[in-house]
Amino acid sequence: MSEITQEISNRRTFAIISHPDAGKTTLTEKLLLYGNAIHEAGNVRARRNQKNSTSDWMKMERERGISISSTVLQFPYKGFTVNLLDTPGHQDFSEDTYRTLMAADAAVMVLDAAKGVEPQTRKLFDVCAKRGIPVFTFINKLDRPSRDPLGLLDEIEEVLGMQPVPMNWPVGDGASFMGVYDRASEQVHLFDRTARNQTISPEYITDMDDERIEASLSAYQLDDFQTNVMLLDELAAFDYEAVLAGKQTPVYFGSALTNFGVQLFLDDFVEYAPEPASYNSTVGKIDPDDDPFSGFIFKIQANMDPRHRDSVAFLRICSGRFERNMTVKHPRTGRTIKLSRPYAFFAEERSVVEEAYAGDIIGLPGNRLFTIGDTLSAGKTFKFDPIPRFAPEHFARLINLDISKQKNFQKGLEQLETEGAMQVLYDADAFRRDPILAVVGVLQFEVVQARLEDEYNVKTKLEMLPHSLSRWVLGEPDEIDKLPWRYGILRTKDNQGNLVALFNSAHELSYYDGKYDNVEFVTVQNQIEI
Ligand code: G4P
Repeated sequence: MSEITQEISNRRTFAIISHPDAGKTTLTEKLLLYGNAIHEAGNVRARRNQKNSTSDWMKMERERGISISSTVLQFPYKGFTVNLLDTPGHQDFSEDTYRTLMAADAAVMVLDAAKGVEPQTRKLFDVCAKRGIPVFTFINKLDRPSRDPLGLLDEIEEVLGMQPVPMNWPVGDGASFMGVYDRASEQVHLFDRTARNQTISPEYITDMDDERIEASLSAYQLDDFQTNVMLLDELAAFDYEAVLAGKQTPVYFGSALTNFGVQLFLDDFVEYAPEPASYNSTVGKIDPDDDPFSGFIFKIQANMDPRHRDSVAFLRICSGRFERNMTVKHPRTGRTIKLSRPYAFFAEERSVVEEAYAGDIIGLPGNRLFTIGDTLSAGKTFKFDPIPRFAPEHFARLINLDISKQKNFQKGLEQLETEGAMQVLYDADAFRRDPILAVVGVLQFEVVQARLEDEYNVKTKLEMLPHSLSRWVLGEPDEIDKLPWRYGILRTKDNQGNLVALFNSAHELSYYDGKYDNVEFVTVQNQIEI
């Protein structure tokens, strides 16, 4: 195996999804603890809080307990290079989550053991299913009173339509939670808690009849545990192909807070999560180890650090090896670009990377040429398949309250649209010149307003529109003119000058769709590139 192939096959690139509060941040931190990337837990959260205090729009994140911006973290673990992509926990940012999942080869779904599959887990899982990547499940918070494990498994199967395969089984729950039975080795892993759960928990590998188990569980709990372990063989067996196909999800029980079961999960995950996958392009499939360097931009974020005010484009490497100072093609503009300041990210810290491989994520700062979906390649010229956009469901006019700040207003809107924070439309019948923001979830409105004020010093006001659906309109101009534009449908244009119709309801759309045969209404997802 060549060195490049070896490096690539050791990459594990994944994202964590969860309903807010299920424990995504805590698990992330504990994976870093067990990956030796931090020595004491508590830092990531502390850093987050620090970041929040420097920027108002991040304050919103803290107040609402949601994570809006995604972070990329890399750490080595047992010969693997793990790339962990953080996703927003709130469904209103599902488009951002989807873009992040485009850069991931697997997803970890965190569930709260007392709550099971929550509404937002379900929505985010749908986004995962659309992307078609394997999903690993971590059932968290077993140190609190939890629901019956079998019931939780049933719920995963019923609600998410995947076959859950318990890879381990909890010993007790709540105050009596002491560890897990590992199905593969048929051994029990018991743990001790550490001070404030900040350091790695001592682990004891033992068997089912260890007296500590009997001493700590009630007679009922002990009987339940022993019976369930005996019955495990009657549950589905681990089938690697089914996991890769997204039909099965391996399920792990544990507690991110007390560290119980975290290492077992990580050990299994690096072994079973897929290697970097191929991506489709205009010249067919691009394999990770066949081709020279190529990748695509899946996220752009400006003003991450108010001291720098720069814009960072995040690139997923899809093939080959990247070297600093490499000159690459940028097919969308036809230019060649030298990548001289690539960064790897560790939480809020960045360091210059000299080399990286397919599966890795690098940050490219300071280049305003890039937009989401752009391909960069060192070999032949091609484009990766476009990243689909979600159809917006909420529309509102955005009014600039201080006309002397018009320039900043425009600049801010342009930047936020480049980042994919929202789409911007303009009323084509021009009785109002205020831009119309089109978003998938209403919280996006608040983020746009807060960031405009914070980063561009522009105060704005929103006027909600009654529409709930948009479609690009294709057809001959005189046919398009026949639509009853002034009676309900709003005629708008996007930034490329394409005609976009806003409808009040799906019912209205299907009525006009049936009536005007020579006009085509196309959905956002599959027709328009960004
Ligand atoms: P999120 O990123 O999915 O939104 O969840 P996060 O990790 O922030 O966890 C949400 C809350 O749940 C936190 O408590 C966290 O400490 C707690 N938590 C996470 N994992 C576990 C677990 O395994 N067991 C228990 N008992 N609690 C867990 P908080 O009170 O909101 O914050 P903090 O004051 O503890 O930091």
